[in-house]
Amino acid sequence: MSALQPSPADAPPQLWAGLDLSDPALHAEHDLTEVWRTLRAERPVHWQSARHGRPGFWVVTRHDDVSAVYRDARTFRSDRGNVLDTLLAGGDSAGGSMLAVTDGARHARLRAALMKSFSPRALDGVVRSVRTATRGLLEDALERGTCDFAQDVAARIPLRAICDLLDVPDADRGEILALTSAALGSEHADAGPDEAWLARNDILLYFADLAARRRAEPGDDVISVLAACRPGGLPLTDEEIVLNCYSLILGGDETTRLSMIGGVEALLAHPEQWRRLRSGEVTTRSAVEEVLRWTTPALHAGRTAAVDVTLRGRSIAAGDIVTVWNASANFDERVFDRPGRFDLSRTPNKHMSFAYGSHFCLGAYLARVEIETLLDGLRTLVAEMEATGPSSPVYSNFLSGSARLPLSWSRV
Ligand code: HEM
Repeated sequence: MSALQPSPADAPPQLWAGLDLSDPALHAEHDLTEVWRTLRAERPVHWQSARHGRPGFWVVTRHDDVSAVYRDARTFRSDRGNVLDTLLAGGDSAGGSMLAVTDGARHARLRAALMKSFSPRALDGVVRSVRTATRGLLEDALERGTCDFAQDVAARIPLRAICDLLDVPDADRGEILALTSAALGSEHADAGPDEAWLARNDILLYFADLAARRRAEPGDDVISVLAACRPGGLPLTDEEIVLNCYSLILGGDETTRLSMIGGVEALLAHPEQWRRLRSGEVTTRSAVEEVLRWTTPALHAGRTAAVDVTLRGRSIAAGDIVTVWNASANFDERVFDRPGRFDLSRTPNKHMSFAYGSHFCLGAYLARVEIETLLDGLRTLVAEMEATGPSSPVYSNFLSGSARLPLSWSRV
């Protein structure tokens, strides 16, 4: 349990002393609205000091500072890691190999090669498959009258889309789904690291095998694109191909799933917005952006300062870990009118849920399509819905949302 006591009365002195933003329970068990607001107002660039044998790190919370850090990829590098846990553990072994943790010219070339598979035109087939699958899953769950929306609907859409992108054979998909949830292990407060490590290894081995097959017999899937590209003049190694396949699962599965679950939770908690969505008063397109802002599935991104730099008057030394918090930037009152209001017609909506700059989420178009398809399905198929039990939070300092959402609902 975190040492934080979020009592507004004694916030300033206690807040800095007790706050441990690396603690998954802090994010899972507390509403941090006031903490973020106080940080933005009083310590927009805060230093969380070293503790429990782990180094300290900078905490950047205002929207304009978060976007400035994202934009300046030369000063704030990703190749030591882009999430807090790996940075605190000493760095990411995939640095320079996996897109999200690669910088400079190599990053630009690898990204350009992958972009071909992520353009709206290239994704046409995947999008059609997402639409059919989503409608089928909703119809089945509505037929039953009750479901765990998280497991029965949301968990089945994003991973399926990634498997389509990678052309994973149908027979193997159940295994990949099971391994992925074990590898990420964020659904249980007490998930063991050994189980996660073994599952991660099994996924890597699986993709190594698939990559070897695609090298021999290329298709038009992402693995074949990776096998054919030469970002530094040389082809990627098998290990680099495998890591980049895995990164699509890491980057695109749970994030999208959590935003879908959080979107339904938000609609349940805000019946007037649910009504506006159903009546067509708000477009699904603007609703998607507000769901992304409201849920902020990726709480933060991590960087390492390449040189000494000053940010909002604070001196950041070369080598320091810098974290930027989308969870705070998305609710910055300097940018969003009444940020605590869930408003499906919010325009403009400059949320940071997909980051910004050179590492802007490669799967943003796909994620938006998946969420929009879900909202459209809810709007047209669901007459009424209500939660029938408590949702359960994921335990993570990086991902935010619920792992379970029991519902009862009826069809129009
Ligand atoms: C990058 C969030 C869906 C693949 C990122 C970053 C964020 C993010 C914040 C930037 C990380 C950084 O700057 O260090 C999300 C959210 C999603 C989502 C909230 C869903 C709601 C997807 C999907 C895919 C994907 C569906 C692919 C299937 C990637 C990749 C990168 C990335 C490959 C690295 C891009 C680069 O470094 O150039 N995502 N993502 N993401 N995302 Fe997503």
